[in-house]
Amino acid sequence: MKIYISSEDIQKKVKSIASRINRDYKGKIPIFIGVLNGAFVFLSDLIRYIKIDCEIDFLKLSSYGDRKISTGNIKMLKELNCEVKGRDIIVVEDIIDSGLSIKFMKTLIENQKPKSLKIAALLLKKDISNLDFKIDYLGFTIENKFVVGYGLDYAQKYRNLKAIYVL
Ligand code: IMP
Ligand code: MG
Repeated sequence: MKIYISSEDIQKKVKSIASRINRDYKGKIPIFIGVLNGAFVFLSDLIRYIKIDCEIDFLKLSSYGDRKISTGNIKMLKELNCEVKGRDIIVVEDIIDSGLSIKFMKTLIENQKPKSLKIAALLLKKDISNLDFKIDYLGFTIENKFVVGYGLDYAQKYRNLKAIYVL
């Protein structure tokens, strides 16, 4: 495995995203919605740099299983527990690949009438993502490579690594 983004670079980026969120949400109490399982490491680092009051919830979508390519058939495996209506929501994703998952979540959350909805993603694969909306807080744009570490898995392994690697 080859190192792709070092732990130091990740931490710098997470800190700078958190500073922007601290500024943008001053006086508000956003709900961070982490997308399980991959985003749990990014979310847990991110919120420790957040200085405003905030709430946390999680949702889980069906994963790739042991494959490296999305089937495009997304199912909800864990629903939200929080009340979205009238709240400022920040969805926290590890990586956007085809964009199918994030589109699915965006529609799902918008249907519950939040006051606002923004998206934070650590990684975006630039060649494949075909999005008709912007990612509000983006860490890194990367090549079309399968990456692991920092919460990202292949067949459930490697989530524990501090850096991001190309498999
Ligand atoms: P999308 O629906 O194709 O955008 O896929 C997004 C989800 O697939 C992410 O939330 C990840 O869980 C997973 N995923 C996509 N690319 C990778 C990768 O390179 N490594 C690990 N997981 C990935
Ligand atoms: Mg994910």
